[in-house]
Amino acid sequence: MRGGNPFRPSFGTSPRVVAGRADLLDEFDIALDEGPGSPMRSILLSGARGMGKTVLLNELEERARVRGWHVLRLPEGPGLMSELERTVLPARLTEHDPTSQRRRITGGSISAVGSVSTDTSEAYPTTPSVATMLQRLAEIARSHGTGVLLTLDEVQAAPIEDVARLASAYQHLLRDESEIAFVGAGLPTGIAALLGQQGSTFLRRAERVDLAPLRREEVLDAAVRTVREAGRVISAEAGERLADVVHGYPYLLQLVGYQAWRAAGDDEVITLADVEATLPVVVDRMSRLVHTPALRQVPQGQLDYLRAMAQDDGPSSTGEVAARLGVSKQHGNVVRGRLIDRELIVPAGHGLVDMALPYLREHLRRG
Ligand SMILES: Nc1ncnc2c1ncn2[C@@H]1O[C@H](COP(=O)(O)OP(=O)(O)OP(=O)(O)O)[C@@H](O)[C@H]1O
Ligand SMILES: [Mg+2]
Repeated sequence: MRGGNPFRPSFGTSPRVVAGRADLLDEFDIALDEGPGSPMRSILLSGARGMGKTVLLNELEERARVRGWHVLRLPEGPGLMSELERTVLPARLTEHDPTSQRRRITGGSISAVGSVSTDTSEAYPTTPSVATMLQRLAEIARSHGTGVLLTLDEVQAAPIEDVARLASAYQHLLRDESEIAFVGAGLPTGIAALLGQQGSTFLRRAERVDLAPLRREEVLDAAVRTVREAGRVISAEAGERLADVVHGYPYLLQLVGYQAWRAAGDDEVITLADVEATLPVVVDRMSRLVHTPALRQVPQGQLDYLRAMAQDDGPSSTGEVAARLGVSKQHGNVVRGRLIDRELIVPAGHGLVDMALPYLREHLRRG
């Protein structure tokens, strides 16, 4: 029996078959088992849009869950700490704290777990109630032989004050050797900006994991398995072509797979022609959903540099790009560095740089 299209070309949606990432997942498993102090218990994932940060965050959460850990996905954006304080933690504690029933009857509210007044929190870097509630949850978890995993997606969107308060609560728990772990994920520039801020010390100590593109075999294997599990097959040459078009980029694996599946119509086999037919859509979607947002915040000087690079069909010589722009080599190097930090370009050997995102060149050439 054949089901519907098994590919999931949308952001934040976990794929049916997760390609690659096994090493990191295994390391995280080990860290959870190793106990407090294991460095891979604090991770900061960075990567370009569509590189699979949210999917990986989901997978890491799942690894913790199967061990019986409490997983707290922190709310994204503003209001992170207040939501944690008012809703998320009280709800968890009410559910899991064997003494919370009694406390509520005698003490009036869950904040009896030890908070001092919450409206002083603005004046101090720490939020005692969040720290205390987290500590309580970690104690409960420990008594069951598990722990607490905190996750935060879109780290760059979190207000710095909230991150600082979270950091101080987390650090407190680390010092107490609590069974606690943290995984944050965000765009490279946002993470860099955050790490530059005061109060983000624990983030600076976290393991930085920069998500790399998937390996070719990983793309091919995931595509073949996704298709097969949904009741079709993909021809060998179509699989190879798909791996070319995808360039190791997870979003494209889903997009190309989806379009090729669709192009095959009612046929049992996805052919080379079906994969080939996806190209216009691929370039167009990448432009709209990935490149346009990625370039939105980029200053003009850096855009000019990218456009000058786009004249080449492959890696560009930094000397030539500077010449095209009529700027000094030194100035060119500054701009190049900024674009590397943004993960829009990558070094490609001595004196060479290349586009970091597939089809970015085509996008820049279009306008
Ligand atoms: N390891 C993977 N294997 C297969 N598909 C993946 C993998 N990781 C991500 N994807 C797919 O890629 C797309 C983008 O993934 P995801 O939303 O995790 O990216 P992201 O890095 O969080 O992007 P953003 O910066 O926009 O939040 C989704 O369609 C998802 O299903
Ligand atoms: Mg995401």
